[in-house]
Amino acid sequence: MKRIAVIGTGRIGTHHARTLAREVPGVDLTVLADPAAPQLERLAAEIGVERTVRDPTQLVDDDTLDGVVITAPARLHPELIEAFAGAGKSIFTEKPLGIDVADAKRAATAAERAGIVFQVGFNRRFAESWVRAKEMVEAGSIGAVQRIHSITRDPGPYEGDPARTAPGTVFNETLIHDFDTICWLNAGSEPVDVYAVADALVRPDFRDRGFQDSAVVVIRFDNGAIATAEASFCAMYGYDLRGEVFGSVGMVRMGDPTNTAARLYDAAGLHGDTRGTDESRYHEAYRAEFAAFARRMDGETVDAPGALDGLRAQWIAAASIVSAAEGRRVGIDEVK
Ligand SMILES: NC(=O)c1ccc[n+]([C@@H]2O[C@H](COP(=O)([O-])OP(=O)(O)OC[C@H]3O[C@@H](n4cnc5c(N)ncnc54)[C@H](O)[C@@H]3O)[C@@H](O)[C@H]2O)c1
Repeated sequence: MKRIAVIGTGRIGTHHARTLAREVPGVDLTVLADPAAPQLERLAAEIGVERTVRDPTQLVDDDTLDGVVITAPARLHPELIEAFAGAGKSIFTEKPLGIDVADAKRAATAAERAGIVFQVGFNRRFAESWVRAKEMVEAGSIGAVQRIHSITRDPGPYEGDPARTAPGTVFNETLIHDFDTICWLNAGSEPVDVYAVADALVRPDFRDRGFQDSAVVVIRFDNGAIATAEASFCAMYGYDLRGEVFGSVGMVRMGDPTNTAARLYDAAGLHGDTRGTDESRYHEAYRAEFAAFARRMDGETVDAPGALDGLRAQWIAAASIVSAAEGRRVGIDEVK
């Protein structure tokens, strides 16, 4: 049994802590760390974790811990990764590696140098239909990959605070998932350049302050494949993640905006239940990514997103930010 800590118990850290404590074999969640979360002790009591700390750096040299799950804000990921990698702990970090390429490089280098088990929270790779799609692409069922489409639309109404949303968030924190799955589905080739358009369509009142809540990115790869990724912070019908890989002999589609195949037909038309959030709709993918992390900590070889995957996705995010700002196609080499 590997002993781990969750570092950061905000929205997703709370969900992950519950999952790790209750549903992931092979790990024992022994500590929760968060300098500010008001619910830290309450959460620990709820899920049977005996120890809480306010300062996560206290845990760096803690010999009782084998690994950490980092769910602190993105800007803190590099320093936390560097600290825990330096101490030889296994690390699962939520995406992204950092908020820019320099940061992401620091994090990736620290993880690689330490030779630790290291995994990035690209949970979409563990969602059932993406897993099946990957198997089909690898088996050659769709032939040569020509196009990939990827969609992330967060459930509305949008309740975030544009004033407290870091610039580039739509690329660094939302589309980063799409960038990773696109590269994963087009394995063996590298992104060459991107063209991105972004705007504030959900909260146009914040456009003048540089806020972006909607974006479309075109990515060209060195095997000729062309991908598109699009995001919105507000889909009024629910959490909508979808994808498609189109190839020379076929196509595979992933994701479904509905929770169930059941459809209600009534006087107002045809209805499918689209309610839910990442926590409810993609819980199984989160559980599966942690199960993979636990098995990897135990010495098994399991395919999972690592440092280079985190870095590659960050290159695409960084190139997209420049492209959207300057209105031109941006080479990945420019931002690497
Ligand atoms: N994979 C996914 O689907 C997914 C979903 C949501 C969020 N995320 C990622 O998870 C991370 C956290 O997102 P969130 O929505 O939970 O944010 P959040 O703001 O709700 O929570 C962050 C928590 O970290 C705590 N914190 C601040 N400084 C800290 C430190 N030095 N050490 C430890 N904890 C610290 C804060 O007090 C807060 O409780 C982000 O990187 C985000 O992109 C991933």
